[in-house]
Amino acid sequence: MAPKSLMPPFDQIQTPRLHLRRLTLADAEPLATYRALPEVMRLQLWDHYDLETARTLISAVNLVEPFTPASAYQFAVELCATAQLIGDLYFKTDDAGTQAEIGWTFSPDFQGRGLATEAAHALIDHAFRNLGYHRIYAITDPRHTQSMRLMIRLGMRQEAHFRQNLWFKSAWADDVHFAVLAQDWS
Ligand SMILES: CC(C)(COP(=O)(O)OP(=O)(O)OC[C@H]1O[C@@H](n2cnc3c(N)ncnc32)[C@H](O)[C@@H]1OP(=O)(O)O)[C@@H](O)C(=O)NCCC(=O)NCCS
Repeated sequence: MAPKSLMPPFDQIQTPRLHLRRLTLADAEPLATYRALPEVMRLQLWDHYDLETARTLISAVNLVEPFTPASAYQFAVELCATAQLIGDLYFKTDDAGTQAEIGWTFSPDFQGRGLATEAAHALIDHAFRNLGYHRIYAITDPRHTQSMRLMIRLGMRQEAHFRQNLWFKSAWADDVHFAVLAQDWS
């Protein structure tokens, strides 16, 4: 496998129903619309999301090449059938470029169809098979049963449950950590 520094720049990942691609400023409006919904923000770190927030995020991630060590990236998830932005995936690579945290935010209009699973599976598969990542993990509040079910569907195993680990929206919250290793990925 070539070192990451010699890999061509990220273009896109194609799945049966989805394109995973870079965010562009044209995505700011749909991104801000679903990220501002109360049910989407409920267990996310933000409690306000507007067009300016979306534009700032998109401009910042476009300064970074995906999968660069010690960087975080946000991928657009587009539905092929309609070319709509339906969600986004967070992917934060550690300093050594071998481990990453993955996260997900999907529009409620497109939940419950396996689309988040399809997108996250494709990104993890790319990271393990083409980029040589060793371990990919995800963190959620255990009240977020949809997110935990997604982690399990992806073949992740729960490794930790930290009690009252985060001061979150005016109260202490637990978090649970799930992970999958390259050697266990099939
Ligand atoms: C976390 C989140 C991405 C999960 O979305 P989701 O729609 O439940 O996940 P998927 O797209 O993989 O869909 C899975 C569901 O669709 C069903 N489904 C239907 N068709 C399917 C298919 N072809 N393949 C797999 N699942 C399918 C599954 O049974 C599952 O439903 P269940 O959990 O009731 O059993 C979503 O809840 C979200 O974006 N929440 C708001 C943002 C957020 O809080 N992010 C996480 C922070 S930690």
